[in-house]
Amino acid sequence: MPAASRPFAKPKPLGQTTRGKTAPNRLRKTDAFLAVAYPEFVRALPGLYVDLGYGAYPVTSMETFHRLRRLNPKLSLLGVEIDPARVAEAQRFTAPGLEFRLGGFNLPLQPGEHAAIIRAFNVLRQYPEAEVAAALAALEAALCPGGLLLEGTSDPTGRLTVFNLYEKQTTLTRKAVVFAPSLRADFLPRQLQAVLPKNFIHHAAPGEPIDRFFAAWHASWQAARAVGRNVRQIFYHAALRLSDHYGYDVDRRPALLKRGFLCLGADWPHKRT
Ligand SMILES: C[S@@+](CC[C@H](N)C(=O)[O-])C[C@H]1O[C@@H](n2cnc3c(N)ncnc32)[C@H](O)[C@@H]1O
Repeated sequence: MPAASRPFAKPKPLGQTTRGKTAPNRLRKTDAFLAVAYPEFVRALPGLYVDLGYGAYPVTSMETFHRLRRLNPKLSLLGVEIDPARVAEAQRFTAPGLEFRLGGFNLPLQPGEHAAIIRAFNVLRQYPEAEVAAALAALEAALCPGGLLLEGTSDPTGRLTVFNLYEKQTTLTRKAVVFAPSLRADFLPRQLQAVLPKNFIHHAAPGEPIDRFFAAWHASWQAARAVGRNVRQIFYHAALRLSDHYGYDVDRRPALLKRGFLCLGADWPHKRT
């Protein structure tokens, strides 16, 4: 029977199974970011929150569900995994508003469903860079107008996090690149280079714009140590210096900076024009 005439034929999930490593609290910074940067959007979410590639067990999906439900008690979260065993494992955690389905970048949405937020974390990092564009195009198709995509990478514990923030206007458009280290312990900006998203990580050779950005952030960090009394203050002052002294397009909102979100404009790693 031709595919088109098969009733309810499910498309083959786009992508492949990769390592399923995950950990409690690993993606907490993505939840904090949405709560700080997009509280109104989360409160009146016009569709599902989709956690794509939740891993061996859905701990990050469940944490996000419970955290964001504090802002929006009606929020529905759909965890999507391409590994059937991981989907089966997750079924015992389903709850009203929390579901897990088998699927790929072409999300397994049912008629009438659409995604308002998609998080794809530590997923694309395991793919060849050449496959990023097709994955983003598939995710774009599932997002509603105004929808957000957080695509990025973290270290195993979530202490270091970097992500692309996209918004679907008429097309999927990058709004920012967000550097989100934990401010609970000291760190050096260069450590975040190891968790750059897939589209950037292979483009940080010495002398390239990404390398120059980290050099500028490091220098700003050292200068900020003279005025900041703790990591939080150093982070804040270093971010302003990156903007004022080096010309990077930093989102200067204190609410973001004080919570450890260095948001660089869509043209990052390039400076303000
Ligand atoms: C390293 S785990 C990440 C788990 C979790 N997101 C985290 O950051 O802790 C990556 C997961 O993505 C899944 N995955 C890879 N490609 C996928 C795709 N195209 N669609 C859905 N899941 C995918 C893998 O099977 C794996 O379980």
